[in-house]
Amino acid sequence: MEVVVEGNCYVSGRFERCCIGIENGRIAKIAKMLEGDRVFSFGNRIVLPGAIDSHVHFRDPGMTQKEDWGTGSLAAACGGVTCALDMPNTRPSTTTLTSLRDKRRIASSKSLVDFGLFAGLKPGIDVRALAKEAVGFKLYMGSTTGDLLVPQPSPIRAEISEIAATRKVLAVHAEDETMRNKESERDLEGHLRNRPNECEVSAIRKIRDAAKDCRLHICHVSAKSSLPLLANAGTVTSEVTPHHLLLDVSSRLGTLAKVNPPLRRREDRQGLFQALKNGSFDIIASDHAPHTIDEKHEDFDYAPSGMPGTETLVPLLLQHVKEKHMDFSGMVRRLCENPGDLFGLRKGRIQVGYDADLMVVDMDSTVRIRVDKLHSKCGWSAYEGMLGIFPRAVLVRGNVIVESGEQVGERVGRDAVVSASA
Ligand code: DOR
Ligand code: ZN
Ligand code: ZN
Repeated sequence: MEVVVEGNCYVSGRFERCCIGIENGRIAKIAKMLEGDRVFSFGNRIVLPGAIDSHVHFRDPGMTQKEDWGTGSLAAACGGVTCALDMPNTRPSTTTLTSLRDKRRIASSKSLVDFGLFAGLKPGIDVRALAKEAVGFKLYMGSTTGDLLVPQPSPIRAEISEIAATRKVLAVHAEDETMRNKESERDLEGHLRNRPNECEVSAIRKIRDAAKDCRLHICHVSAKSSLPLLANAGTVTSEVTPHHLLLDVSSRLGTLAKVNPPLRRREDRQGLFQALKNGSFDIIASDHAPHTIDEKHEDFDYAPSGMPGTETLVPLLLQHVKEKHMDFSGMVRRLCENPGDLFGLRKGRIQVGYDADLMVVDMDSTVRIRVDKLHSKCGWSAYEGMLGIFPRAVLVRGNVIVESGEQVGERVGRDAVVSASA
């Protein structure tokens, strides 16, 4: 074998001391003992599949004062994310083959981790062309950062049926723009009043009706009242973020905690938490949406919505597992297996034929999250002071890219969608 990784590996739903043999970046063999040209022995440490963060905004091109593919992917990698799926609300927005390919060129030159690129859904896009190279489509039903707002499904009826035919996932920012209040906002309460729970419920209903044949995926579910709609929703999948699970409107963070959809009441947060425990939500993703601290220090009403989170996604959840709120299988399913399956990537499992994307974890190494140890360009985190477990080492396709919280390897990241079809 070219590379062998030895440790306490999570294979087929349980841990076993074994060796993972890697050839050409892919897992070629799993056995008790293997010989390799290069052997990484992690003893009793846990080896998990690398996480797929299926919802990030790396801001590149066009908003690189907030983040770029270099810093965003470094943050991801240091947090155990080995593949990041980037949203299309960049500048220009990713709605044409040219803008998609331009973004791919930028990402390929700077990214440490593999990636997929979402195409933005707006009237008139070339669905068929985009479907060949995008990881999925993204619809914004409520206004937020960027210029991709489509408040009603009616003007995109034709595009929706074309997307259904491609079998690509349609990921949805489900906030009904027509139900928003537009009062001036002074605090998180005001932001929540402007985007009440019914906004989300209504948007989910509308898109479910308008896109019956699509593989619909509801991003960042935030309201408890949305849960019944998702429970009997056939093939509709859903995502939850750490911020909607761990923070609520009582947060003292002010604009730093201003996000869309908003942080809601404690009952909502607890409802999501309980639903997750009971098996709801296919995916946990960060919705990493960095803004500079200067932008966030504007008056509440003007400050942009969004917070960084890709680097803290896995650490917070590993701590969650340690505290027995979730087991490893629940975590690996939502962070690795399901996103891999949903988006058709050969990633997310320690299994022969899958990309050798791995993270090595020591469950005893809980630390307090400190902003000065994080790598996003934005330089702040809503999770400062909370407990987390960061991976000791991270591998992308057999290359060690991170050790002890710092970059060690080359920037090997590539588009996981086009490289799979190449
Ligand atoms: O809070 C948010 N920020 N929600 C979104 O949907 C977009 C994101 C961003 O790109 O800033
Ligand atoms: Zn969104
Ligand atoms: Zn987002």
